Amino acid sequence: MLQNNYNQNVVPVITIDGPSGSGKGTIGQLLANRLQWHFLDSGAIYRIVALAAERHQVPIDDEVNLVRLAETIQIVFQTTQGSIQIFLDQQNVTQAIRQETISQLASKIAAFPRVREALLALQRSFRKAPGLVADGRDMGTVVFPDACLKIYLEASVEERAKRRHQQLLEKGFDVRLMPLIDELIERDRRDKNRKDSPLVPAVDAVLIDTTSLSIEKVMTQVFDLACQRVSSLKK
Ligand code: C5P
Repeated sequence: MLQNNYNQNVVPVITIDGPSGSGKGTIGQLLANRLQWHFLDSGAIYRIVALAAERHQVPIDDEVNLVRLAETIQIVFQTTQGSIQIFLDQQNVTQAIRQETISQLASKIAAFPRVREALLALQRSFRKAPGLVADGRDMGTVVFPDACLKIYLEASVEERAKRRHQQLLEKGFDVRLMPLIDELIERDRRDKNRKDSPLVPAVDAVLIDTTSLSIEKVMTQVFDLACQRVSSLKK
């Protein structure tokens, strides 16, 4: 039985966590659209800080200046006709943050507790009525522990690498599959083993293995759960 220690006066949040390529971004966005709720892609925030660090030549081990950067850069998400455009200090970085070099850099930066702390308030500021769907690694465990529904998506590493490969090709990046598998394994290892906010399912999360499921099948399961949970909040 899932716990539902939910206060009706707060804006409801549904969290979708999991490793890269598990489908959380796609499902999160579809769910937010269907519920007409806000959407938070928390990974994009870590990617923006990584890109800013690269552009300002802040060394990857310089925690103090990485924190300063996280606290001072301007991050804006703009939804235009269903597509999300992402701005770093007024420059459109929607495409630039998806490079594989930035994925790796983001996961190194994300291991610093003080960087994570500096980004907490920004992530929580996305919680606005009528509700929020938040995707990431620690949405259900740390950022929104009182979420009304927590989903944790998993999939085999081969399947996740295939999906990520396809996504990157569609975005116009020229990438090969094999190095991508190694990079994915490396990033998962780092995300799962860091001391602060590691990638783990929340104790009250619903686990779904998406390896052999279509997006539609996963979406049906997640949407049904969301409807049940949201309607139980209204009672
Ligand atoms: O989700 P995405 O692949 O865009 O995230 C990039 C990196 O940002 C992850 O590998 C992870 O290290 C970090 N991240 C995190 N916590 C989150 C979201 C992302 O540490 N909530």
